[in-house]
Amino acid sequence: MDSIAQQLMRNPVFSHVYEQLWRPVFTRLFSLGGSGTADFDTALSAYLARPGDRRILDVACGPGNYTRRFADGLSGDGRSIGIDFSPSMLAKAARTNATDRTSYIRADAHSIPFADNSFDTVTCLAALYLIPDPLPVVDELLRVTRPGGEVVIFTSVQTDLTSLPGVREVAGMSGYRIFGRHEIVERLHAAGAEHVEQTITGQGQYVLAVKPDPREADQKSR
Ligand SMILES: C[S@@+](CC[C@H](N)C(=O)[O-])C[C@H]1O[C@@H](n2cnc3c(N)ncnc32)[C@H](O)[C@@H]1O
Repeated sequence: MDSIAQQLMRNPVFSHVYEQLWRPVFTRLFSLGGSGTADFDTALSAYLARPGDRRILDVACGPGNYTRRFADGLSGDGRSIGIDFSPSMLAKAARTNATDRTSYIRADAHSIPFADNSFDTVTCLAALYLIPDPLPVVDELLRVTRPGGEVVIFTSVQTDLTSLPGVREVAGMSGYRIFGRHEIVERLHAAGAEHVEQTITGQGQYVLAVKPDPREADQKSR
């Protein structure tokens, strides 16, 4: 049976209020007890929207709020593709965040419908904590990233606050998972990622990782 959180994501009303109301409030809530998640978010968005002829995949894109932001910086043949399994989120994305550099596709993050090594950048923001079996999704993110490309994740993390008795259990009942401090980083390492950087801001973590490029390793060894 779907969790409360998953049912919410499929609710058309929620998709209407998500971008303007829910996400900004939620981002600020994540700052509780730490440095500004909102500031990190702004800096990261600017970095990911840097100009370039790049292919970006935004996994669990919701109403396309980031997919479009990333697309706005692209040049040449650059494209930003959002995938999500909620029809109402995708309908909202198509209405409000479609440009000639964006595409939206209905798909499950567990089996991303793209070949290995397809994208320069793969993001999964504010979604892994809603997915009941999230660690195989981390492997999928890396699979579709090209060698030398980057994976960017924003999700929950265990902190002093969320370690208080009962917090994890209550969150879990609603379908919100709180990741252990090293869970995501370790999974990325196990899947072969390098340069894995974790930044904890309040109740959330940003994790950036690079998929190794065997050609670079080759050149260094010469
Ligand atoms: C909180 S929204 C995040 C939207 C956007 N990425 C952001 O950062 O604001 C989470 C999204 O994850 C999607 N989602 C959850 N599980 C998924 C899955 N297994 N495959 C694809 N999308 C999923 C939901 O439909 C929802 O749109």
